[in-house]
Amino acid sequence: MTERMLSATGTGEDERFDRLFRPDNLADYIGQEKHKENLRVFVEAARRRNEALDHVLLSGPPGLGKTTLAHIVAKEMGVTLHSTSGPAIEHKGALAGLLTKLEHGDVLFIDEIHRLSPVVEESLYPAIEGFQIDIMTGEGPYATTIQLGLKPFTLIGATTRTGLLTAPLLSRFGYVMRLDYYPASELEQIVLRSSRLLNVPIEPAGAAAIAARSRGTPRVANRLLRRVRDFAEVMGNGSITEAIARLAAERLDVDDAGLDSMDRRLLLIIIDDYDGGPVGLDTLAAALSEPRDTVEDVYEPYLLQQGFLGRTPRGRIATRKAHEHLKRPISKSIDQGKLFDT
Ligand code: ADE
Repeated sequence: MTERMLSATGTGEDERFDRLFRPDNLADYIGQEKHKENLRVFVEAARRRNEALDHVLLSGPPGLGKTTLAHIVAKEMGVTLHSTSGPAIEHKGALAGLLTKLEHGDVLFIDEIHRLSPVVEESLYPAIEGFQIDIMTGEGPYATTIQLGLKPFTLIGATTRTGLLTAPLLSRFGYVMRLDYYPASELEQIVLRSSRLLNVPIEPAGAAAIAARSRGTPRVANRLLRRVRDFAEVMGNGSITEAIARLAAERLDVDDAGLDSMDRRLLLIIIDDYDGGPVGLDTLAAALSEPRDTVEDVYEPYLLQQGFLGRTPRGRIATRKAHEHLKRPISKSIDQGKLFDT
């Protein structure tokens, strides 16, 4: 439980609450101001022209609201959202089935779009470029392809890193939205909003304490809020105070910097077992018994952004800040500053 407290991949419970907490229009969506303003303009322009919105790519670590934004765009456009994921589209026929169902302007949301098979990805190109697909008919010597026209639609792709997409796919998106971690002030507003939806009384300092420990991630903030609510009901009077939030975070092994046991384990492996680093990503992933992609896409980005982790050509290092935070003496390699000369 504590191991996954902050891991950002959603659980079944998360999905249920994500739906409850999910704002359904841009005005209610907190944060990502610049992108929100741009989306508002693109949606308005497409609506006035009665056209489908241009294809949009959403990229960023899990839990930052990519699925939520896809729902909002569809709602603001007044169209239907069809939701799937890269690995779920197993062959060209499955893709054709999805595409031919789309009505004018509909949104096709493909989560984990970097995991489309190369064959499916290639057959997606003519669909998003010219709204047509090639369909094979007949067998053996009688096999031919026919071109089938599609109604104009919007593809919204989601990925953890734009770097994972092939260049031809990336170039076909009209707007690429890179989502960043949320500042504590915005997470605080999200926590206050979610508490209202849950009907839980919360003090501003309680919301701030949750926000500060949420790894910059709305999904983590909402999950922590639900756990804090449990502590407030059982150990307090039901109201979320700063003291209850701190107590709950401590019980869940989330520290004051918002790092969970997994984050600390990652940094401690580098510090204690590898003298502060550098350690290669594969070694680190093996030591953590986690897939390489999970380490790279889920754990590392926040630690890098917060300055606990560094990347050098020879591998990952734990920074001075990480040593200080985890109360370890500064590793020799860091002290001598020799890691940064390459
Ligand atoms: N921004 C990102 N996620 C959000 C959420 N769940 N509610 C409101 N604003 C958000």
